Amino acid sequence: MTAAIVTGGASGVGRSTVEILVGRGVPVVAVDRRWPDDSAADDVVRITGDVCDAGTWKEAVDAAQERGGLSKLVINAARLAVGSVLDVADDELRQVFEVNVFAAALALRSCLPVMIDQGGGAVVGVASTDAVFAEQGLAAYCASKGALLQLMRCVAVDHARQGIRANVVCPGAIDTPFFRQHVDAAPDPEAFLRVKTERHPSGRILQPEDVAEVVAFLLSDAAIGMNGTPVMIDGGLTTTFDFKDA
Ligand SMILES: NC(=O)c1ccc[n+]([C@@H]2O[C@H](COP(=O)([O-])OP(=O)(O)OC[C@H]3O[C@@H](n4cnc5c(N)ncnc54)[C@H](O)[C@@H]3O)[C@@H](O)[C@H]2O)c1
Repeated sequence: MTAAIVTGGASGVGRSTVEILVGRGVPVVAVDRRWPDDSAADDVVRITGDVCDAGTWKEAVDAAQERGGLSKLVINAARLAVGSVLDVADDELRQVFEVNVFAAALALRSCLPVMIDQGGGAVVGVASTDAVFAEQGLAAYCASKGALLQLMRCVAVDHARQGIRANVVCPGAIDTPFFRQHVDAAPDPEAFLRVKTERHPSGRILQPEDVAEVVAFLLSDAAIGMNGTPVMIDGGLTTTFDFKDA
């Protein structure tokens, strides 16, 4: 079986995706800036590096090539900045776009030529409900996730005839360190978490594996009919507005 590259593989959705793919016999190359001791299975190739660096991508693609070739890519690592467009400092704004958009393009430019050469494959971008809807106090993040969604749609149309499928998952709140960063920035984190949870018709915050299962499906041949599709994984959050538990 050919290999998958997963970014942000040390935590949350990335880590869960790695575990699911390994469980299905897919050779995985996981990229992250740092690795906790207990992270990922032994049979995963861990690359320590920043997704914004071309060198990280050379290392990841080489590692995938050594494991039977590359046919799957998950663009998952991201950066959050809390605040309106007036609150976010220039540097922070640039870094959010650097990680969430520029690095996604770098990943595609590093991986697509190899995948196309080897007969095609599937790419999944991990965006957010914030790619489609505006969330208060997350201006830079929402703008960057909208850009990621459009980038992936462009890949879907530009490279479909070369055997590439590119889809996007748009999760609601997921219980990970990333989400905790947002919760902890609120003036009353407990109240913020309660409101967030209640807003989802499902009445629960997602677990990383809820999202990773869909990512794994979109990477698989079972999703052959899907290309350029944003998949909402949000417990019904964006299906309605002003939801109340009647
Ligand atoms: N947690 C949520 O509520 C939520 C909601 C919607 C979408 N998402 C998206 O899900 C994806 C995964 O987030 P998560 O919640 O699993 O977060 P997480 O913090 O658990 O994991 C993200 C991982 O990405 C790595 N990373 C970040 N920047 C990197 C860089 N420049 N280079 C290499 N690695 C880097 C981090 O070290 C971390 O291990 C992100 O794209 C995020 O935007 C998260």
